[in-house]
Amino acid sequence: MDWTEIDLSEQLSLHEEAASVLLDAFLARGIASWPNLESARKEVEHCVAEPNLCIGLLVNGKLTGWVGLRPMYDKTWELHPLVVAPANQGQGVGGALVQALEQRARERGLIGIVLGTDDENFETSLSQTDINGSNALDEMQRLTNLNHHPFEFYQKCGYSVVGMIPNANGKNKPDIFMWKDLTVE
Ligand SMILES: CC(C)(COP(=O)(O)OP(=O)(O)OC[C@H]1O[C@@H](n2cnc3c(N)ncnc32)[C@H](O)[C@@H]1OP(=O)(O)O)[C@@H](O)C(=O)NCCC(=O)NCCS
Repeated sequence: MDWTEIDLSEQLSLHEEAASVLLDAFLARGIASWPNLESARKEVEHCVAEPNLCIGLLVNGKLTGWVGLRPMYDKTWELHPLVVAPANQGQGVGGALVQALEQRARERGLIGIVLGTDDENFETSLSQTDINGSNALDEMQRLTNLNHHPFEFYQKCGYSVVGMIPNANGKNKPDIFMWKDLTVE
């Protein structure tokens, strides 16, 4: 298999495919952040605009997934979004994209990457309890995966849970914040 990393900002002809992958990957998870192709196209256009980074992975010439990085803090930028086409998930594409993005981030002089991974479908233990100011830290330490929530994928990529916003997307639908120190190999 031929795996080729590409800079999506230089590949105009792949933007429509990138929008389709974004749409399909989240709809397959039952998440309607991008409910139609038009909203997905707008996200792609935002992700490829300066100064953002946007990396794709071609497998045998086909776009199988892509990832974006955008400024959040001076030296720590936000990973958003990361998508792998449903048919290509579980083959190492997501991990390869994250690694490629981290390499580009280091080249930009960044020292950290942060991301928010929403639990909109009650897939983690954080969705099973009412979280308030007094139990938030304990519940984060007890975090477990109930149904393939991607926080565990990010942990395997070296990201740590560093915070959350309870009820971010509705009652018991938190956003889980994760972070990686890029200065440690
Ligand atoms: C999450 C996502 C990017 C992972 O990409 P992928 O190509 O399937 O992941 P990989 O094959 O590189 O997996 C790397 C490791 O993470 C694990 N992993 C992947 N997804 C996982 C999940 N949802 N839950 C638990 N572990 C997961 C794999 O089992 C593998 O573990 P291993 O190294 O022990 O074998 C992909 O499933 C996806 O696009 N999902 C839909 C969109 C989405 O949820 N994006 C992230 C939102 S924050």
